[in-house]
Amino acid sequence: MPLPKAELHLHIEGTLEPELAFALAARNGVTLPYEDTEELRKAYLFDDLQSFLNLYYELMAVLRTEQDFADLADAYLERAAAQGVRHAEIFFDPQAHIARGVEMGTVVDGLWRALEHSEEKHGVSTRLIMCFLRDESAESAMATLEAAKPHLDRITGVGLDSAEVGHPPVKFREVYEAAAALGLRRVAHAGEEGPPEYITEALDVLGVERVDHGLRCMEDPQLVQRLVRERVPLTLCPLSNVRLRAVRVLEDHPLRAMLDAGLLCTVNSDDPAYFGGYVADNYHAVRDALGLELEQMRELARNSFLASFLEHDEERRAR
Ligand code: ADE
Ligand code: ZN
Repeated sequence: MPLPKAELHLHIEGTLEPELAFALAARNGVTLPYEDTEELRKAYLFDDLQSFLNLYYELMAVLRTEQDFADLADAYLERAAAQGVRHAEIFFDPQAHIARGVEMGTVVDGLWRALEHSEEKHGVSTRLIMCFLRDESAESAMATLEAAKPHLDRITGVGLDSAEVGHPPVKFREVYEAAAALGLRRVAHAGEEGPPEYITEALDVLGVERVDHGLRCMEDPQLVQRLVRERVPLTLCPLSNVRLRAVRVLEDHPLRAMLDAGLLCTVNSDDPAYFGGYVADNYHAVRDALGLELEQMRELARNSFLASFLEHDEERRAR
């Protein structure tokens, strides 16, 4: 029995397995520039975040209808349940779809078709977090927030993802203020490839409650102290960090040092179809590479519920 856990850093578009990509391509009459799933899998060798994002955005071309988004989410939830996931807070990237002519309503309603049955079908409760693409303009992010207004009963929070370096959190100050005024929870990717200062900015300027990745906080001892003191959760993604070369090999991953420092760490899968494993695979990989004890594995699972946006009574039930 896998440890019951929550997954807090998961891009639904990053769960698009090659087999589903080809099935959706056939259904929608989209031609992919790959012969078959085998050739596509060979493209899954990345030098950095941008080289991954290029493929990630390219493959989204197959996602066109509500049913496509429903099938994508349902496939993820089924896999997640098998990995012990009881609760999933799921990112999606509306701008990447709107830019291709797929409307916000198609994306949200499609995802919702799967999410609304997830508790009874898979035993997984869910939340949706809408991410802004940080390499797009702040105006585009604001327009996206506006387009989300009719769907806010289904959206719990906002996040910030895509190419990090050169796109500091401060660029999105007004958008996050507007999101907060709408009652949305706030998270942001920071310190994945970007410097520790981006983590501080995400906290101070965007008011985030959780930092996605946050890996590079380890370069700044004062920042680590602050994150420990303020109990700021970090959503780490170890297999992603290796595939995108934020760390050289898993044995070099700072997770153990982060736990020892008292940071509130969680382990997540990020884009599991691309990075070689779903969330339990990430837990097992760090256990083996870093020699984590069962108590530390339990701490990671406990942290995942504590750091979630579940209410206290829901959190207890999910565990
Ligand atoms: N979009 C999907 N996965 C991402 C990641 N790991 N970092 C930034 N943006 C992303
Ligand atoms: Zn991510």
